[in-house]
Amino acid sequence: MAETKKTHVAVLPSPGMGHLNPLVEFAKRLVSLHNISLTFIIPTAGPPSKAQKSTLDSLPASIDHVFLPPVNLTDVHAKIETLISLTVVRSLPSLRDVLKSLTEKTHLVSLVVDLFGTDAFDVAREFNVSPYIFFTSTAMALSLFFYLPELDEKVSGEYRDLPEPVKIPGCIPIAGKELLDPVQDRKNDAYKCVLHHTKRYRLADGIMVNSFNDLETGAIKALQAKEPGKPPVYPVGPLVNMDPSTKADEAGCLTWLDRQPDGSVLYVSFGSGGTLSYNQTVELALGLEMSAHRFLWVVKSPNEVANITFFDKANATFFSVNSEKDPSDFLPKGFLERTKGRGLVVSSWAPQAQALSHSSTGGFLTHCGWNSTLESVANGVPLITWPLYAEQKMNAVMLTEDIKVALRPKANENGLVSRNEIARVVRALMEGEDGKKVRYRMNDLKEAAANVLSHDGSSTKALAEVVRKWQNN
Ligand code: UDX
Repeated sequence: MAETKKTHVAVLPSPGMGHLNPLVEFAKRLVSLHNISLTFIIPTAGPPSKAQKSTLDSLPASIDHVFLPPVNLTDVHAKIETLISLTVVRSLPSLRDVLKSLTEKTHLVSLVVDLFGTDAFDVAREFNVSPYIFFTSTAMALSLFFYLPELDEKVSGEYRDLPEPVKIPGCIPIAGKELLDPVQDRKNDAYKCVLHHTKRYRLADGIMVNSFNDLETGAIKALQAKEPGKPPVYPVGPLVNMDPSTKADEAGCLTWLDRQPDGSVLYVSFGSGGTLSYNQTVELALGLEMSAHRFLWVVKSPNEVANITFFDKANATFFSVNSEKDPSDFLPKGFLERTKGRGLVVSSWAPQAQALSHSSTGGFLTHCGWNSTLESVANGVPLITWPLYAEQKMNAVMLTEDIKVALRPKANENGLVSRNEIARVVRALMEGEDGKKVRYRMNDLKEAAANVLSHDGSSTKALAEVVRKWQNN
């Protein structure tokens, strides 16, 4: 009798660790709960990064991966969203070859893409493989994606010029200027690219979103409302890296945290790519110092760094630097010495999942990348929101005004957040009444996050429903 083949799923992450990481957690959950085997098919525009290789090499045997031949993007000068999307489009011929071979060797039931991968649906259909989306951001952003074609028809000018907030179905009203970056300039290719994908979301057989009912109740209710032609939406999150052993700690962050009192440290990080201007880096340093609270800051070189000369006002001296320099070279003179023992500054990377799960960590100043946000929710750590790009402003509005687990500092008319404002909001979070409120709320969500991922939790059931559909297909 022919041996029944294991259910097999292909996963196509568009470029960026912020997409690969959650898809890896999703894959691991399918393996552990449903004995499914998977192949990650990775589109590339150059040699795979060290982070990609180390993440993929550390996966269990039932999760295979293949890097597609690098596509050529030298003819393209466009925003990141367009580049990501084009990398997928130009990889379709080689994706077809891999899918053909997988259908011959395995019981391939689905191709799962992320938010910019809908052009791969046609190739999946060629092989009668069910196309699904794993949406790596919020239910709010997904609700906007479903709403965008209608908004595009209704509004003629720029969304940032709308006099009234935008009413995304199921979500808190939000000013147009706070919507995700690629919709801020409707003449740009990035907008056309996002609109193109949002129109294709209806072609998916189902959409999984890395969120959960207690976190985004309104948005998920709106997404699950029955509408002709709209695919079912499955909240399967929060899927985050809770396996603390996987990240190295060269900078000694965890041993430093071990020496700090419980809940006393503010963890400060702007994700894998976020950077600040030189002036803002100085204000953040002096604001952390003035707050008199403990901090663990993952500092990156300022975004202007390109062998240029800075003027250090505090010491009335010019100094020039180059990008090979240590990011802490851009910090105010004497700052490291004055905060020694109370603050730890590490360059570029820290074991974030472990830092957030450490008992000494009591707050997180974050750019609001969704993976960082979910890691903070899963560990019950309240937030200071500092959005930089992508859909982070939307996340900040939702976290401060809707879910109420975060405090948001105010920028001045030049967009700079001053040292006084930083000190104020840090003290508010770490010792003030406002901080207590968001901390209690975040603790409730930490419990809810554990419940939805438990054996009979809603996110566990939603994922099981998807698997059932795949296996009955
Ligand atoms: C990107 C977009 O920026 C974000 O808006 C979107 O929601 C997801 O895709 P990214 O900027 O990479 O995300 O931030 P985030 O989503 O927070 O993911 C960063 C990941 O890197 C997290 O899992 C975090 O734990 C890890 N990290 C980051 C570290 O482990 N150490 C660090 O020092 C910084």
